[in-house]
Amino acid sequence: MGNMEEITNVMEFEKLAKEKLPKMVYDYNASGAEDQWTLAENRNAFSRILFRPRILVDVSEIDVSATVLGFKISMPIMIAPTAMQKMVHPDGEIATARAASAAGTIMTLSSWGTCSVEEVSSTGPGIRFFQLYVYKDRNVVIQLVRRAERAGFKAIALTVDTPKLGRRESDIKNRFALPPHLSLKNFEGLDLGKIDRTSDSGLASYVAGQVDRSLCWKDVKWLQTITSLPILVKGVLTAEDARMAVQSGVAGIIVSNHGARQLDYVPATIMALEEVVKAVEGRLPVFLDGGVRRGTDVFKALALGASGVFVGRPTVFSLAVGGEEGVRKMLQMLGDEFELTMALSGCRSLDEITRNHIKTDWDYPLVHAKL
Ligand code: FNR
Ligand code: LAC
Repeated sequence: MGNMEEITNVMEFEKLAKEKLPKMVYDYNASGAEDQWTLAENRNAFSRILFRPRILVDVSEIDVSATVLGFKISMPIMIAPTAMQKMVHPDGEIATARAASAAGTIMTLSSWGTCSVEEVSSTGPGIRFFQLYVYKDRNVVIQLVRRAERAGFKAIALTVDTPKLGRRESDIKNRFALPPHLSLKNFEGLDLGKIDRTSDSGLASYVAGQVDRSLCWKDVKWLQTITSLPILVKGVLTAEDARMAVQSGVAGIIVSNHGARQLDYVPATIMALEEVVKAVEGRLPVFLDGGVRRGTDVFKALALGASGVFVGRPTVFSLAVGGEEGVRKMLQMLGDEFELTMALSGCRSLDEITRNHIKTDWDYPLVHAKL
């Protein structure tokens, strides 16, 4: 499949995937909202953070393992929820789940997977989180959360940045729809499993029809009454909301701009991270997703206070190129690069990574690198 052996970094998966995938599918996975300013910024901002490496530290033993919500994982790099993975590879979410557990890390399954929670759990042991979209019909939510619990999922990642779908212009032009041989497997029995072709983006119409736009903090409380699973609030970008999250008693925060697919001209997540970390004052773990493509990016996020990161597009594009093997290779490369960054920075375990190991352009003016 493709020439996977020749791939030497995570970005190269996207190039190969673009050659391979139908245009509608590639565009859906790659695009951001509107001008895609935030999409570029999610990457560019990482290049405005430089290292302050420490030398002559004995790095003959390096431990990259991490603890997330009490679960010990092999590295602080996890899989973000991305919808409809069978569009890019016939094995879909099953392959992603297998690759994540082989790598000893966490997979987050999207509500809108093309495999169900039961199918994913049937792949065998593994620590998995379930990403939740809250439907207007709360019975749908209650049933789904129960199923995720029964299937052994360990946490709920509640997506809070999508009362409406962001305007992804290529999806509108392509009149995006879910290919008819596929369905949103978790909703099949409820007759909510199809995303039909409309005059617009079919997904935008689906969201407008089904997702509860009235969702607010009291619903986070409600969610806590229907599940005992820890809840991560996915989509926080400000100190104000970070403090609300602390007050609401959730288990953690994911600083995310949805891979720049929702509100354009929000900052890169790596720039919003520190504000959130400061606001929570250590009371909750803070995670980040958005633009993570290198082990150096992972290190930078941890230096700014993240407890771990999630990757979205690297997952879908490596899945497209090589199925389970592709996702394994992507995780391996990111993990290896991260370990190398630790060695070259003089850090032997995650707790040795500090704010002093980096300088950002908000610390002092840097020469702006172009990616
Ligand atoms: C997403 N994302 C997403 N988020 C979510 O909460 N539920 C979902 O179903 C999806 N689906 C989805 C599909 C695709 C194709 C992409 C690219 C993204 C957002 C995702 O979880 C994550 O926030 C971003 O992907 C992180 O940015 P990077 O790693 O793609 O740069
Ligand atoms: C997306 C939705 C499914 O970003 O979260 O496409």
